[in-house]
Amino acid sequence: MTYSRIMGTGSYLPKNIVTNKDLEKLMDTSDQWIQDRTGIKQRHWAADDETTVDMVEHAARRAVDSAGIEMSEIDMIILGTTTPNLIFPSSACLLQARLGLPGIAAFDLNAACTSFIYCLSVADQFIKSGMAKKILVCGVETLSRALDWEDRTTAVLFADGAGAVVLEASEEPGILSTHIHADGRYADLLGTDVGVSCGFENAPNGGLKILMNGREVFKMAVRTLGQIVDETLAANNMEKSDIDWLIPHQANLRIIMATAKKLNMPMERVIVTVDKHGNTSAASVALALDEGVRSGRVKRGDTILLEAFGGGFTWGSALIKY
Ligand code: ACO
Repeated sequence: MTYSRIMGTGSYLPKNIVTNKDLEKLMDTSDQWIQDRTGIKQRHWAADDETTVDMVEHAARRAVDSAGIEMSEIDMIILGTTTPNLIFPSSACLLQARLGLPGIAAFDLNAACTSFIYCLSVADQFIKSGMAKKILVCGVETLSRALDWEDRTTAVLFADGAGAVVLEASEEPGILSTHIHADGRYADLLGTDVGVSCGFENAPNGGLKILMNGREVFKMAVRTLGQIVDETLAANNMEKSDIDWLIPHQANLRIIMATAKKLNMPMERVIVTVDKHGNTSAASVALALDEGVRSGRVKRGDTILLEAFGGGFTWGSALIKY
């Protein structure tokens, strides 16, 4: 049987660090409130001239280096983002040109904060079917450009960054299973009201704003992530104690703690980056995975549960033998 294995990881964070104290100067908020409600202490924001494709190029090159392969061996790029450079060409195509890989398939995928899990799931199917051998899977966001300064509830949460992995065909597992879901009935609870075919009247200055019903999102995220833990364990005939690491989407420390509790997992076995990175949406799981690997905590052979929840609603998980 062919599996897909993560051969290398990489990430990138913009240089500009914005602390909660910095935000106190921009809006009516406090370091105490942000830390108590979200666990966030600081986040990174892209420089004015820094784009989604700039950031993901760094992460992609680092992932390919850590996989120990030549860039020319990559035969597909799948890029998760809600903040592409342009509507089209896709950011995956712009990245493909930068990496010097003309001709290989390259496409964007948007499942909001669950994008990276969706990308992994799609890449896994291409590898299992034999259609690709080495896929560059990326998650990246420049959400600082979509913050609404009038809405302190969302403006303190979201941030910028990029993560990437190289997935390779292997006889050894590998990705054990992926589980992806969506429920568009909840579209109004988290998203934007500016688009291409509609919504321009909401952006008189061309601005994109995130709209969120935080309380409802919080409740749904905790409930849904609990369910996907059960679904993932059952599909693999595993017990909670079989999981070595939880690498969750980094939206809110309280949501992460609720999922860890569901798994009876001590917080020492959870990779937490939300305190330093804020919510980087499509990038967050890939960034946390890279941090877990590079810090030496996540080791080859460990069983890792990746999970995420986001706008749509979308949610998903990936169980991985690293
Ligand atoms: N600073 C200070 N006070 C604030 C701030 C702020 N930044 N934001 C809101 N408040 C105030 C509110 O005005 C309100 O004041 P009031 O009681 O006088 O009316 C009070 O704090 C409580 O507001 P709530 O919105 O009820 O606060 P809550 O405890 O729900 O926390 C939060 C808000 C952090 C957004 C929480 O609901 C949450 O984390 N929800 C999930 C959001 C999330 O994770 N989104 C992303 C997940 S999916 C994805 O990643 C796309």
